[in-house]
Amino acid sequence: MKHLLATDGLDPVVATAVLDTADELKHTLLGREVKKLPTLRGRTVITLFYENSTRTRVSFEIAGKWMSADVINVSASSSSVNKGESLRDTALTLAAAGADCVIVRHPASGAAQRLSEWLAEPGTSVVNAGDGTHEHPTQALLDAATLRERLGSLKDRRIAIVGDVLHSRVARSNIHLLSALGAEVVLVGPPTLLPYGVESLPVTVSHDLDAELPAVDAVMMLRVQAERMHGGFFPSAREYSIAYGLSEKRQKLLPDHAVVLHPGPMLRGMEIASAVADSPASAITEQVRNGVHVRMAVLYHLLASEGAAA
Ligand code: CP
Repeated sequence: MKHLLATDGLDPVVATAVLDTADELKHTLLGREVKKLPTLRGRTVITLFYENSTRTRVSFEIAGKWMSADVINVSASSSSVNKGESLRDTALTLAAAGADCVIVRHPASGAAQRLSEWLAEPGTSVVNAGDGTHEHPTQALLDAATLRERLGSLKDRRIAIVGDVLHSRVARSNIHLLSALGAEVVLVGPPTLLPYGVESLPVTVSHDLDAELPAVDAVMMLRVQAERMHGGFFPSAREYSIAYGLSEKRQKLLPDHAVVLHPGPMLRGMEIASAVADSPASAITEQVRNGVHVRMAVLYHLLASEGAAA
């Protein structure tokens, strides 16, 4: 694997290999006081973030450090991007300075793909840490890792992705990855927050959350992305919460084994009740923990495994 840009088109064999490596790393490090492995000693990983992040940026930094890579964080707000430098020039500068891998988050869909084209010549790997409303592949991989831990195989598991699918790169990456791993995905949300062309995706669609919950193995609540809704938010926040929020009452409709996920950051009380987010069914903290091991596995497959340059 040379880059990780999307789960759309990602070979399920490769995805499973990354998940298996993450699992192995998690068990290797379990209970260890010192987490460092020597695997990426001498390699340089740079995170380049043009949008805010807590989970993705921090877990990539920890992942790189636990693999002994040198990790450097660049945020657009404190770099020469603020003086007008382009994404291309910024990326070429980082590669010239010695980056083996650039992890990029950018508001424009397709930015990570463009970066991988510009960095083909220096041979720098690129990881998409979220590009616009397009994809967030490592989030989908960590979601799959969490679901595998809780449910075992994903084959024929029914997973509901609920809410603002229209603006969600997390949803898009999960739709492709979960279906490639054999799960059935149902998108649940108001018609205004489902993407145009949804019929072409490997999913079924529902507008009735209460009708779907009794038959699912997992429910993935999405953040309502008000910052991407330039024309306003319809339905209103109150209407949305009543129809699509995962309340305590609604949680009772789920089967006992069903897992509750949320990629974060959560709007408690809007998309999900606090009591549900903190309940035993919730795997939200595990998602964050698994994010570190999955990102370690991604860096391993990009920079250290036999197929790294393929
Ligand atoms: N899930 C996710 O991408 O969170 P951050 O925006 O905090 O990285």
